[in-house]
Amino acid sequence: MSKINTVKIDRRDFIASLGGAAAVGLMSHETRADALEHHLEELLYAQAEGSASGSSGAADFPTAAEVHERITTRHYRRGVGGLFLNTNTENVELLPAMPANPTIMDFFDKRFMRTRGHCFQSAAKAMERGVQEEVVLACLLHDVVQEMMRSDHGYWGAQMFEPYVPEITSFAIRYHQALRFYTDTEAGYEYPDLYHRIFGKDYVPAPHIQAAKDYAEKHRWYFAAREVTVSDLYAFNLDAVVSIDPFVELLGRHFKQPAEGLGNDNSPVAHMWRTMANPDAPL
Ligand SMILES: [Fe+2]
Ligand SMILES: [Fe+2]
Repeated sequence: MSKINTVKIDRRDFIASLGGAAAVGLMSHETRADALEHHLEELLYAQAEGSASGSSGAADFPTAAEVHERITTRHYRRGVGGLFLNTNTENVELLPAMPANPTIMDFFDKRFMRTRGHCFQSAAKAMERGVQEEVVLACLLHDVVQEMMRSDHGYWGAQMFEPYVPEITSFAIRYHQALRFYTDTEAGYEYPDLYHRIFGKDYVPAPHIQAAKDYAEKHRWYFAAREVTVSDLYAFNLDAVVSIDPFVELLGRHFKQPAEGLGNDNSPVAHMWRTMANPDAPL
């Protein structure tokens, strides 16, 4: 399995994801190998959606056609959000209850568990690079919608946040999705090697992505969307200690928290927040 050499695995995280050392001890060799594959896949997803130039060997890069052929080897679609799918074990776990009037902090705390680490790192990098607060905010929020939906996540994310953040912030969230496929050496962004693995080495972005890139490139806020992709590159480290603390005041200044709670404010996107607050609702 050449993948083992190309993706960094935290041994303790991996064992914990399988239910601890005792559970691992009871597994057959084959089951353990399967579990490792699942864990690697999760890491690759995180890297693909997040960041990471990765250190993958070019020999492992599939073609786009080979990526396509793998669709039917999974029991789920690649676009499904992390809140709705558990690739590590058979069953999902009960989620912590949300308060009656949930805030953005509650969502970070109780629903954005799979994406927040990457987003905190990305925002910390943007802050370190001295960009304006509205753009740090975009980095902080740029991938959390992947808890619900991975496909076209820039658009889903921008829409979900639009009523609550400055316009430049939702612009940056929307267009980071397209810009991450295009190198901008001057800005410090190179096409991540890992995308060759996730999308295929000969992958060509869809026409709407190419059109979005052309539009964003000419826009006065290009730098904001580009910053999300640049900070993204530095934001995949499984061992990093990260928290929301450095961003609480910034959220207070720029995130318009509805008094009724996210999901209860009758906004055009309230249903998205309710869906994430209660992903076990059957209809
Ligand atoms: Fe990201
Ligand atoms: Fe992203």
